[in-house]
Amino acid sequence: MNLLKPHNVPRHVAIIMDGNGRWAQRQGEARVFGHHSGATRVREVVETAGNMGVDFLTLYAFSEENWRRPDDEVNALFSLLISYLKDEVERLHENGVRLKSIGNIDRLPPDCQEWLRLVEQRTGNNQGLTLVLALSYGARSDMVRACQSIAADVQRGFIQANEIDESLIQSRLSTSIMPEPDLLIRTSGEQRLSNFLLWEMAYTEFYFTPIHWPDFSKEDFATAISVYSDRERRFGGLISP
Ligand code: FPP
Repeated sequence: MNLLKPHNVPRHVAIIMDGNGRWAQRQGEARVFGHHSGATRVREVVETAGNMGVDFLTLYAFSEENWRRPDDEVNALFSLLISYLKDEVERLHENGVRLKSIGNIDRLPPDCQEWLRLVEQRTGNNQGLTLVLALSYGARSDMVRACQSIAADVQRGFIQANEIDESLIQSRLSTSIMPEPDLLIRTSGEQRLSNFLLWEMAYTEFYFTPIHWPDFSKEDFATAISVYSDRERRFGGLISP
């Protein structure tokens, strides 16, 4: 497919892939069916983002709050993630994609942690798209961990309290591996952040679509990029003459 490449491609796109469960239930299927179809859309969007010249793609695949879901659904999500990593590792590598993860990875099932490590190692030197999977991720707890690490350094006398600034805080977040998102896409009609990248999205452009994630096509992704490319970003300043 030949998708038009707009002039102003965002460097970093973050996606809240919402609506899997409702999409499945609407057709009388179990919620897990929606997650399976959602994984297919993940494969497509990774390929399209890379082809369009996006440098970073961050996917909210499992939030800290998602642990509250029934065990069956949680287990199915991690099996799906492992299948994705197993099936895609060579394709990601061949396409120059580098995989990274953020979140409380220690909390994931051990085999899932092992696969993540393996794919991160295998793709670690690639120079193309960086695909960041947010897993057991919550922005507030990431900020809490950053504060704890800075406080410990203050206590040890390595840092003075008045030396704490935005760049120091940013450097202690798990997201220090990437630039701030330029564009956030959320599918399924919900219009909220749900504890995703709260610090990092201070100046991010938002794109909300009613389409459920399992229906979100390559063309829908290209449309979101094209809408972004026509936006004017001022970062609190004035329009340049
Ligand atoms: C939100 O939809 C989606 C999730 C909690 C999981 C996202 C997972 C995938 C898209 C598939 C596997 C991921 C990878 C990276 C291979 P929801 O279940 O909250 O939908 P609902 O709001 O309709 O209930």
